[in-house]
Amino acid sequence: MTKVITYGTFDLLHYGHINLLNRAKALGDYLIVGVTSDDYDKIRGKINNRQSLMERVAALEALKIADEVIVEEYEGQKIDDIKKYGIDIFTVGSDWNGYFDYLKDYCKVVYLPRTQGVSSTDIRASNAKIKVGIIGEADNEHTSLQKFTKEASYVNGIEIVCSNCDIDNIAKVDDYVDLLKKVDAVYITSHPKNHYEQIKKALLEKKHVLCEAPISLNEKDFLELVSIATNNKCILMEGIKTAYTTAYKRLILLAKTGKIGDILSVDATCTSLKDVHNYTKEQLKNNWNTITEWAPLALLPIFDLLGVNYLSKRITTKLIDKENSFDSFTKIDFLYKDSTASIKVAKCAKSEGSLIITGSNGYIYVPAPWWKTDYFEIRYENPTENKRFFYQLDGEGIRYEIAVFTKAVELGKSNDVIDENISKAIALVMQDFYSKKDVYYLE
Ligand code: CTP
Repeated sequence: MTKVITYGTFDLLHYGHINLLNRAKALGDYLIVGVTSDDYDKIRGKINNRQSLMERVAALEALKIADEVIVEEYEGQKIDDIKKYGIDIFTVGSDWNGYFDYLKDYCKVVYLPRTQGVSSTDIRASNAKIKVGIIGEADNEHTSLQKFTKEASYVNGIEIVCSNCDIDNIAKVDDYVDLLKKVDAVYITSHPKNHYEQIKKALLEKKHVLCEAPISLNEKDFLELVSIATNNKCILMEGIKTAYTTAYKRLILLAKTGKIGDILSVDATCTSLKDVHNYTKEQLKNNWNTITEWAPLALLPIFDLLGVNYLSKRITTKLIDKENSFDSFTKIDFLYKDSTASIKVAKCAKSEGSLIITGSNGYIYVPAPWWKTDYFEIRYENPTENKRFFYQLDGEGIRYEIAVFTKAVELGKSNDVIDENISKAIALVMQDFYSKKDVYYLE
């Protein structure tokens, strides 16, 4: 019996795939198809798949051309599979000509003609693209308009139609409404004091919204925006790029599955040293203060792991400009029934920007800057049991965030986005900071 193996992503199965599979099958008696896992595709830079691994496997199985479907999870697996399954022929389409010649040491390698004129990329691209307008200030320190535009170019299905929507140029309400008519969605990275109005107008025009956190500065506004989004069937997604990175998602899952025992404390630090003391009043008014710039990000692992029902909190802050509530340094301590948490954030102080999750059996350590990490460790009393985890991270996570947003808009639902309760809890922390609840001021 001649055994043949082939591999691919097989997203949105098309006749090019079917031709390839029939040709592969005709080379022997038994065909194994390796389907790339979602993680492996991410490592290969394929972040645009429309179908999950399970959907892609199910489609291939339903075709009944392959005798066996397996999952390809890591670089180098092909050699392992060829040995494991006793493969005689390895085959792929001619777009890979020469690339897999190194497998000739293990079996015969055949490049089959590729079907012209069709590919998953083309099919994804042929779906109407979501037109996005970017709303922000050109001199925004928080997320540059250019960075978002560049990262969006890695994502299929999205088109930036207004890449420099400097809010100063569309300050008039009419201009903004005019802009909204040209787009399907907006990415809002303007100053947080503008978020509520801008999001509300977009949602009322039935436009989807991806907004840099915090979505709003109080709970009431947040709930109102959620209700408009729900009524108008719009996606309202909070933008915290770290939330969409593989390393962050995995460390949360590992902590939740008890790898370090009971979680007793979550401590997140995010600082940057900006020349804030030399800012003019105008600059202080228009720039993100520490609490808005850093706190949503630092709060994320706390609310993800311990939930949002804390018993009490204490906000300790140092204001350098009372009029604009511009804090240079803020620390928040949370008390939960069975655990504690803290964030330390600053735009005018420096500290180790790590994330540490303390557990009864060990701890998770994410080195600085933890919010851009592709790596973390689980550490135990006995260092020989320590484990290190590495994941792919491209574009600081922004492109994954944009990919999740695009998928949510296409599907009309938002499975992977930050939980609404977490966004609400973030808005409440902002509200308490500005309304001076639980706040202690450093001299
Ligand atoms: N293939 C083919 N003819 C096509 C498209 C793909 O023969 N028109 C083959 C590839 O050469 C590969 C297999 O199908 O052996 C799976 O390819 P995959 O990368 O999943 O499909 P593409 O359509 O090329 O996907 P993408 O556009 O995302 O790269």
